[in-house]
Amino acid sequence: MSPGRERGGCQVSDESILETRGLTKAFGGFTAIKDVDLKVRRHGFHALIGPNGAGKSTFFNLITRFLTPTEGTILYKGQDISRVKAARLPDLGILRSFQISAVFPRLTLLENVRLALQHGKGVSYRFWQNETSLNELNDRAESLLADVGLGGRGAEPAGTLPYGSKRALELATTLAFEPELMLLDEPMAGLGTEDIGRIADLLEKASHGRTILMVEHNMHVVARLCDRITVLARGEVLAEGTYAEVSSDPRVIESYVGRSDAA
Ligand SMILES: Nc1ncnc2c1ncn2[C@@H]1O[C@H](COP(=O)(O)OP(=O)(O)O)[C@@H](O)[C@H]1O
Ligand SMILES: [Mg+2]
Repeated sequence: MSPGRERGGCQVSDESILETRGLTKAFGGFTAIKDVDLKVRRHGFHALIGPNGAGKSTFFNLITRFLTPTEGTILYKGQDISRVKAARLPDLGILRSFQISAVFPRLTLLENVRLALQHGKGVSYRFWQNETSLNELNDRAESLLADVGLGGRGAEPAGTLPYGSKRALELATTLAFEPELMLLDEPMAGLGTEDIGRIADLLEKASHGRTILMVEHNMHVVARLCDRITVLARGEVLAEGTYAEVSSDPRVIESYVGRSDAA
């Protein structure tokens, strides 16, 4: 990813779509996230990195409302969402992706995407009972499958897909919701080199016109896709900037010293 404000022909805005202020999470006497101020710019591809135990998952779970903050606020488009229920986030345009369980193995690929389309945007099921609408729904599902490299395979059962393709299918079901903000939790975890390249290509494409916040260990992927990186260590922001900036920061290097997942 080259530095600068342009990404995929789309201007990265200076305006933040997501912002945390003084975000703090304590588990009993242990503070896993301490006073974190973070801004994710609209149409940016932002990575959250840091050594194991830094607090990445905790931070992510606060944003996706799986955990409730001890202190601080989470603002989405200026609205305080720090107490909003997780189930309401998709309606606001926020989608957490790559939870492989979101794929229904006994349904076909087409049925999986169709189901996501039917749930997205609050469209009622009855709308799709009309035949024209049903055809439109199928066309849209086919086109989403094609977008993630699964075109023409709609009739296959999802359960038989190899792992990498399952992740591509899950991306299609996420895109069906037309999210404005996608939250990705280690999208490359468990994938082989070939699948990593393929999923990274898909994410790059999917990121155009959207905002993505991603926790990811694979630094090649982070360097390639992300225009902004926040490094967490011991629950606090250690550094922030482009990949070139943070990877040359002595404090960041120090925080990773002796680790197998070094940047
Ligand atoms: N539910 C919990 N209860 C107590 N401690 C927790 C809990 N979840 C995470 N922690 C602690 O918070 C710290 C940060 O964990 P985590 O957010 O999983 O880090 P990362 O994802 O960066 O590896 C760790 O020390 C971890 O042991
Ligand atoms: Mg984690």
